[in-house]
Amino acid sequence: MDNEKMYQFNPYTPEFYVDPYPILDELRSKAPVYKSRGYRGDLIVLSRYEDVREVLLDSRFEVEDLPKDLKNKGYLAKEPEKFELASGVIGSWLFFLNALEHPRTRRALTKAFLPNSVKQLAATIDSIADSLLHEPKKHGRLELMDDFALRLPTLTMAAMLGMPIKNKTQFFQWATMLFKIFERPQPIGTYEDIVRASEEFSHYMQEILQEKRQNLQDDLLSNLLRYEDEEGPLSQAHIISICAMLFSVGHETAGNAIANGVLSLICNPAELDRLRSGDVSIASATEELIRFDTPTQFIVREAQEDVQLFGYELPKGASVYLCLAAANRDPAQFEQPNQLDLARVMNNNLPFAAGRHFCLGAALARMEMQSAIKALVQLPNLRPVTADIVRRRSIIIRGFRKFPLTFSASC
Ligand code: HEM
Repeated sequence: MDNEKMYQFNPYTPEFYVDPYPILDELRSKAPVYKSRGYRGDLIVLSRYEDVREVLLDSRFEVEDLPKDLKNKGYLAKEPEKFELASGVIGSWLFFLNALEHPRTRRALTKAFLPNSVKQLAATIDSIADSLLHEPKKHGRLELMDDFALRLPTLTMAAMLGMPIKNKTQFFQWATMLFKIFERPQPIGTYEDIVRASEEFSHYMQEILQEKRQNLQDDLLSNLLRYEDEEGPLSQAHIISICAMLFSVGHETAGNAIANGVLSLICNPAELDRLRSGDVSIASATEELIRFDTPTQFIVREAQEDVQLFGYELPKGASVYLCLAAANRDPAQFEQPNQLDLARVMNNNLPFAAGRHFCLGAALARMEMQSAIKALVQLPNLRPVTADIVRRRSIIIRGFRKFPLTFSASC
């Protein structure tokens, strides 16, 4: 039963970062339930759509307790109390809240993220996309990640919360650094950087909240300050943690979804033409782009008790890697899954996961992608500077560190 002996799956290679899909196809057909050893012991990797979905809906599995992990790392550091503070800044992220705590935070946020609420932001997101392209349009060059794709979700979130971003470069660094909590294992130095980013972000938000309290408006931050239920209002620390989550999680996921989508279109010129000519709607196109090259490649679950799973005995604490990217290319679910078809009709793709932790920002991410792709495909002769593209070396988020593009400048 131990398929590790017969077939080796290793996603930590340059080939995998460039094009994981042939490797995932092989994994799904040769060892759909793949047992291996990770840095924390035995683990299982699942790649079939039905299996991934089953575990997402199974309450015996939970997201790993990364705040606790961070606190534990503090014992290795010079100033362990700072790790306590940082674990508080990520402590109320929805991912890490147990079944009793999760509904309260989710309830405080749900209304703002419903498709109808998010629709009201469409014009704002379009204008953010246009403003980010204003300068590049003069020169015909764009560093897609730094100048556009990572900025758009952060500026959108700031608009939604109704707060200023005083030092944009520093703010983007905080968002990037906080997201590293999901990428493990990391050297202690990275954890120290996460701690520093948490501290600085927290100080920044304390000032913003003080200003906001004097001038409550019709925005998400004001609504979080007004929120009250049977447990009373949300504490300041809780609100800061929610904001850290919204900025950090939205930044890397949507930013890389935009970039993956652009590359898929450039590599499939006939589909790009269909989109440019209006043959397919932008909504249908973006849905297919997120399925075709899912930014959230793997998510991880931890067994909360000893569990039997697809023939394996998993001890409490064992990890299960759910490959959303492989699930989204499963031929048992999608006809010709390796073909990009912008007019594909589907309602079963899994980029946003499922179950209790189904992506809070799914409607917002779709809207951001639509604005971004609409604006980018209008650039004439859009081409990547292939030699200068730098891929992210991560199995959690697929995307880019650098993605320079050229196009014909406007006169
Ligand atoms: C295309 C872009 C995006 C993708 C592919 C994506 C994907 C995901 C996935 C797979 C999960 C589930 C994680 C798990 O179960 O372990 C998730 C959860 C979440 N996402 Fe997204 N996401 C995207 C954009 C966003 C944006 C823009 C936001 C900003 C609000 C956001 C906020 C969240 C939050 C707060 C959760 C946790 C929900 C919960 O635990 O209740 N996401 N996302």
